[in-house]
Amino acid sequence: MRQLRVGMIGGGFMGKAHALAYAAMPMFFWPAPAIPMRRMIADATAELAEEARARFGFEKAARDWREVVESDEIDAIDIVTPNDSHAEIAIAAARAGKHVMCEKPLARTGAEAKAMRDAVREAGVINMVAFNYRHTPAVALAKKLIADGRIGTILNFRGTYLQDWSASPDSPLSWRFQKKIAGSGALGDIGTHVIDLARHLVGEIVAVNAMTRTYIKERPQQNSGVDKLGAAQRLTGVPKAPVDVDDEMLTLLRFGDGAIGSIEATRNAYGRNNYLTFEIHGAAGSLCFNYERRDELQVMFADDPPDCRGFRTIYTGPAHPYGEGLWPIPALGIGYSETKIIEAYLFVKAVSEGRQPSPGFEDGYRVSAIADAIIASAERQSWTDVAS
Ligand SMILES: NC(=O)c1ccc[n+]([C@@H]2O[C@H](COP(=O)([O-])OP(=O)(O)OC[C@H]3O[C@@H](n4cnc5c(N)ncnc54)[C@H](O)[C@@H]3O)[C@@H](O)[C@H]2O)c1
Repeated sequence: MRQLRVGMIGGGFMGKAHALAYAAMPMFFWPAPAIPMRRMIADATAELAEEARARFGFEKAARDWREVVESDEIDAIDIVTPNDSHAEIAIAAARAGKHVMCEKPLARTGAEAKAMRDAVREAGVINMVAFNYRHTPAVALAKKLIADGRIGTILNFRGTYLQDWSASPDSPLSWRFQKKIAGSGALGDIGTHVIDLARHLVGEIVAVNAMTRTYIKERPQQNSGVDKLGAAQRLTGVPKAPVDVDDEMLTLLRFGDGAIGSIEATRNAYGRNNYLTFEIHGAAGSLCFNYERRDELQVMFADDPPDCRGFRTIYTGPAHPYGEGLWPIPALGIGYSETKIIEAYLFVKAVSEGRQPSPGFEDGYRVSAIADAIIASAERQSWTDVAS
């Protein structure tokens, strides 16, 4: 069986998720399109790279990402570093003829994302951006029901991504709160996942009218580069520095085909953990999803009998998208890892078959252009067209 030799850049939270996904993918999706080999990993220092190698099961550690990108032992580069290095690494990888998987947001700005999109296009390499939530089986089922016309013409998309891990003023000023590294705050970090779902399920977003807020103006400075996501982290007695990104983003949406909608994203919503939701109303029914209950899709069809009107819950399982590779009984339950395992499967399959998967860098670029429009709209306080 063919092998796909993976070089990973970054050994933090997503390094763990992606390494686990490559290791587990053939156990779920068999026969595997190719066996991913965890060949080489780089981190910010030689010590971090060696630790990541030992922990995540890679054969070799590299002192610098360039060694991995230039190695002739590598077929695909997986970029799981903070947002400021995505463009440089992805463009170098494409020029070296490597296929590229890159975490979201694809880049800090639309211009950076466009340069990445152009580089992979020019090099003719397979590319994927890691908007993994769209691979949740219940979300893939929503996509299928919409494509089959089960809810008719879509009227409205309401999406939220609410978390609370940085609601405390003592949670640290990690890279996620620094514009030069992250590009934006809740917008880029979590809002982009919902923008991806809106585009994926409804269609292209052409204009936005947005507000952003920064509630906590300064946070304690974090010494190490690895973001501990603030969950249990409270830094006290250390100097504080200014936050220059949004804590919360809220936008109205206008879709190209006439649908309307809204998206809210915040990491300051006490009581919400990973509250990624959407409700979609169509002319012939509605769909409702909440990632905190990720094995369920709620549906209501306009032609349901009058005495059965209301949402009913479908539990995803073998009859649903990716069911052939996941667990054999509905509601055994999937976790975050399974969304990443499906993502790894789609990437490896696409490389094996020489065909572009979805979402690719074009999608990553479109999402970044929408994020740019949201920032511009919030500054101007007016409807703003998304760059085409
Ligand atoms: N898809 C998702 O659900 C999801 C979830 C979390 C993070 N992300 C994205 O994944 C990316 C990484 O986030 P994370 O949470 O893993 O961050 P992290 O801080 O946990 O890890 C980043 C790692 O990259 C390393 N690194 C930094 N600069 C480097 C360089 N120049 N060369 C090599 N290694 C370098 C750091 O030392 C660290 O090990 C970000 O783009 C983030 O937005 C996506």
